[in-house]
Amino acid sequence: MKHGKVFLITGASRGIGRALADEVASRGHIVYGSSRSWSESEPALTFHPVRMDVTDDASVRAAVQEVLEAEQRIDVLVNNAGVSHCGPVEETSLDAGRDLMETNYFGVVRAIQAVLPHMRKQGFGTIVNVGSVGGKIAIPFQPHYCASKFAIEGLTETLWQELQGFGIRVLLIEPADVRTEIYGRSPHLLEKDSPYLDALVRFHAVKKKDMGDSADTPDRVSVRIADIIESDTNALRHPVARMAGLFLLARKFLPDSIFLWVVRRSFRVDR
Ligand SMILES: NC(=O)c1ccc[n+]([C@@H]2O[C@H](COP(=O)([O-])OP(=O)(O)OC[C@H]3O[C@@H](n4cnc5c(N)ncnc54)[C@H](OP(=O)(O)O)[C@@H]3O)[C@@H](O)[C@H]2O)c1
Repeated sequence: MKHGKVFLITGASRGIGRALADEVASRGHIVYGSSRSWSESEPALTFHPVRMDVTDDASVRAAVQEVLEAEQRIDVLVNNAGVSHCGPVEETSLDAGRDLMETNYFGVVRAIQAVLPHMRKQGFGTIVNVGSVGGKIAIPFQPHYCASKFAIEGLTETLWQELQGFGIRVLLIEPADVRTEIYGRSPHLLEKDSPYLDALVRFHAVKKKDMGDSADTPDRVSVRIADIIESDTNALRHPVARMAGLFLLARKFLPDSIFLWVVRRSFRVDR
């Protein structure tokens, strides 16, 4: 991929999206990075800030229009914005589940629907969906997060097939743990009288550790993602971050009975 491509990256205010926006900008691309809340006092950015709430049709349309008016094209859409949560299936409200899907799944669909007509007209482009190893490996106490990432797997696989004839590449990035604020910021259900409380507390401790020093860094992961986007690969799935490839290989080849037992053990869910 030549320099000077126009990128629109959702969720660029922090974490993976921010590191990726900085990385691709440093490689000479024209980058628009979104947040719901860029402020006037934002310190100097290496890319153009654009306001976008992926749960809001009008906001997504306006952001895409803003980039098109400025650049006349969008070459690469990176659907990175996402949220997480922690709680058992039984105790997580349907509204909480719907809210999460609205960002992590419908938010991605919304951005794709807003950008795709323009990419189709120009006859080229790349759509990058940031999924997760959680899209292949469900873990306890993150049911709707995993479901949203399983949904992204299906959506992206469908899209890859639909867009082959239009010259538009579709890439699915599957990160393992990356040291960001996503888990710390997410709502946690730790009710005192919950029958799941002990297991939840142990899960929470493991998860916090996994997202800490042992996790990969957004900077390292974003270099890898930028390399994948700049390459001419048309392969659908790209595991990134420490251990991602190994986790997915184990999921593929181990029987459910063994694999799920290992996952439960590693999150210390067993009593
Ligand atoms: N960190 C990990 O271990 C990990 C592992 C696998 C996959 N992932 C995936 O990687 C992506 C980025 O995660 P991260 O860890 O970098 O998270 P993060 O640090 O919490 O950043 C999330 C970004 O999403 C944006 N966002 C959230 N809700 C939004 C909405 N409704 N509309 C627009 N933007 C919204 C936030 O922007 P504002 O709040 O400023 O609007 C922020 O820039 C997510 O899709 C996540 O599922 C992360």
